[in-house]
Amino acid sequence: MKYRVIGIDISPIQPEYVPPNVCFQIDDVEDDWNYDEPFDFIFCRMLTGAIADWPRFFNQSFANLEPGGWCEVQDIVAPVQCSDGTLDPDSAFATWSRDLLRATHLAGRGIDGAKLYKRQMEEAGFINVKEEIFIWPQCPWADDDYYRMLGRWTDVAITGGLEALSTALFTRHLGWKKAELDVYLTQVRKQMRDRGIHAYWPIYMVYGQKPE
Ligand SMILES: C[S@@+](CC[C@H](N)C(=O)[O-])C[C@H]1O[C@@H](n2cnc3c(N)ncnc32)[C@H](O)[C@@H]1O
Repeated sequence: MKYRVIGIDISPIQPEYVPPNVCFQIDDVEDDWNYDEPFDFIFCRMLTGAIADWPRFFNQSFANLEPGGWCEVQDIVAPVQCSDGTLDPDSAFATWSRDLLRATHLAGRGIDGAKLYKRQMEEAGFINVKEEIFIWPQCPWADDDYYRMLGRWTDVAITGGLEALSTALFTRHLGWKKAELDVYLTQVRKQMRDRGIHAYWPIYMVYGQKPE
């Protein structure tokens, strides 16, 4: 088979059955990279908040690409947005999203980092760097079928993971007690699922090429 694909995650979540050209490895992308051969494509999705030093990530990607190879990163950006006034900025949901962002900055891993990826890639030496911004509606509030489907996925990914997303950040960095946080998250969850609130998350796709 022409291409070999290596999937990396720090957690032992790798599937057992994979196509013959794919292998998964447990690895920390924040460590020094020691791969045997250069890649022609490096793809990274939803690692915001996981990587503290993104310029180093882009430098390592650049060093580990073939000339002419590409790197692409896709990430969500907090806080949640709303363009039609249906999300009260003082609501539990809007406040939660700002507090979540604040906590990630206190943890040294801000989840608005994707806004800097384009510049950081250019500084690492990438050329033809492009940034495209998409949206994920928070829940199935949109009239359009495609965006309604995206809203269902966001509901599963973010609302479904609300407790896991919030607990360490709010208790370790913002001083919340778990019991009071659980009560607050009940309110946040209810507002996240309110189809009258037209909230959405910006999703950044940034890609660039190593010169030939
Ligand atoms: C939000 S999930 C995204 C998973 C996958 N990339 C996707 O888009 O479906 C973030 C993943 O990053 C992994 N992760 C966090 N820190 C990491 C690190 N330093 N090195 C490698 N993987 C890491 C976590 O274990 C988790 O599986």
